[in-house]
Amino acid sequence: MNPEPQIIVLDAGGQYCHLIARKVRDLGVYAEVRPSDASAAELASARGIIISGGPSSVYDPASPRVDPAIFEIGRPVLGICYGQQIIAHVLGGEVRKGEKGEYGLATLELGPASDLLFSGLSGAQQVWMSHRDQVASVPPGFSVAGRTATCAVAAMAAPERGIYGVQFHPEVVHTTRGKEYLDNFVFRVCACLPDWDPRGRIPMLEREIRECVGPRKVFFFVSGGVDSSVAFTLCARALGEARVRGVYVDTGLMREGETEFARRFPGITIEDAREPFLEALAGVTDPERKRHIIGEEFVRVQERIINQRRLADEHWILGQGTIYPDTIESGGTANAAVIKTHHNRVAGIRKLIECGRIVEPLKSFYKDEVREVGRELGLPAELLERHPFPGPGLAIRCLCSEFDAPVRAVPEGWMIPVNSVGVQGDSRSYAPVLAIDSPDYGRATELINRIAGINRVIAAVRTRLPVPEMQARACSLTPERIARLRRADAAVRALSRRSGYDRQVWQFPVILIPLGAPEAPDSIVLRPVDSVDGMTARSVPIEPRLLEEMCDGLLAQEGLAGVFVDLTHKPPGTIEWE
Ligand code: XMP
Repeated sequence: MNPEPQIIVLDAGGQYCHLIARKVRDLGVYAEVRPSDASAAELASARGIIISGGPSSVYDPASPRVDPAIFEIGRPVLGICYGQQIIAHVLGGEVRKGEKGEYGLATLELGPASDLLFSGLSGAQQVWMSHRDQVASVPPGFSVAGRTATCAVAAMAAPERGIYGVQFHPEVVHTTRGKEYLDNFVFRVCACLPDWDPRGRIPMLEREIRECVGPRKVFFFVSGGVDSSVAFTLCARALGEARVRGVYVDTGLMREGETEFARRFPGITIEDAREPFLEALAGVTDPERKRHIIGEEFVRVQERIINQRRLADEHWILGQGTIYPDTIESGGTANAAVIKTHHNRVAGIRKLIECGRIVEPLKSFYKDEVREVGRELGLPAELLERHPFPGPGLAIRCLCSEFDAPVRAVPEGWMIPVNSVGVQGDSRSYAPVLAIDSPDYGRATELINRIAGINRVIAAVRTRLPVPEMQARACSLTPERIARLRRADAAVRALSRRSGYDRQVWQFPVILIPLGAPEAPDSIVLRPVDSVDGMTARSVPIEPRLLEEMCDGLLAQEGLAGVFVDLTHKPPGTIEWE
């Protein structure tokens, strides 16, 4: 049994809401997430309340609300991002649309530490921001505790009432001292006592699997990646190997060598589904359509196998290695925006979930926690250290376009008429890309914050023809383009491994964009990022010599006109382009 939560996190739809709860648990204090409008009476037994960020504006009538009585029950409250704005709004301050958005790293200037939340934290520090609205004036009884260049109220406090707000995200790793804010809030402001040991989770997970599966058997989709391997192993331990069957689906969208890698695992069957996947995707250009088609195709594969092998339906349920970001970015909590529909959250899968026919042991875990669980289970490092690879595979790294369009010169660089997905202020964006002429990361962040209508900046590293002479062209997912991307990905991966660069980054997508000239119609974008959990990410530079080698290898391949590097952090650009 889990203890009663000492900290309750109110879910205002933020990307990071469950991350906040987990960070508090990592401090040794049990925390749970509740809907934002939970009543004050339901929260009275907790020692403290945190209100999460969210994609809405407090002036939007449909935006998440909190019960105003929570500020009267004598429990400390910390509002993060939208959480700070709703506190200001409810208690008589003013929230205004910022002139500029603020996405990514910022420098917080904190006033002299005057009370418990900020103890030990005065001065300048790096924080992570993702917002446009901001608090313009604090409510009566509050004082401004910190500011950044574009945000006059980056932190506010009413210490006598134990109510605080921060516009930045202390829960993400890029806020360098974020953990200290949460630690101060939990132990100093709320006086919580340690009651949670993160290592107790494996027996807890096995118990949950047994409860969910009951007497049935599990048909488990594995991909050869970390999440599905850990989830599969947990199921096999909880239920016994005889009751769990692992199936690897070859979708035709995998990286080079993946199917062979999966073949090495004992007890896994390989299902060749290349034809149906590629047929279903023929002619499709829209990213969300691709994701839906792929997810539904996985459901069909499962149905086909069950029918072919005459496995009585009701005795089998589906197992998946879904992790928390897969559910949250698909709009998994009441107030969250859909950033991307992950392949394991399409309608067909949701239906199975509603009927209780899915087991997903890791669905509230983040990547770094999954790796820890994997280590505790004794899985090999070779497997656990693999870079994440998305279920929809190369399909969402092979960008398509409905129109031919020229590159447009602008004062800052060139507008590339290829759209990609981003996440700005907790909402989805789908916007064109700006290319500049050198990998200047600081300038890229400044440009994204300044120029409305873009969510990503790339640098041209080497091109066969001048960038302004390049054309984007109408094209869809074809076997030829997927093969081109697979070759490019394999070449980059080999160099990245050989140089040891792959160990310096958390993930390294290679993206094919329809930008070039008739004889070489596509270009490659390199997207190496560092992250802890995939929810936020920092774009990582590539050492010049290695980058040169990558360009040599790529431009020797047929069909490729240029090599670019993505300079965008997450937010505002997501890790994958679609
Ligand atoms: P984004 O692009 O949203 O990606 O910044 C965050 C992490 O999630 C992975 N990803 C997926 N994984 N199914 C998956 O199993 C999916 O549909 C999916 N989409 C994105 C992505 O590779 C990154 O690690």
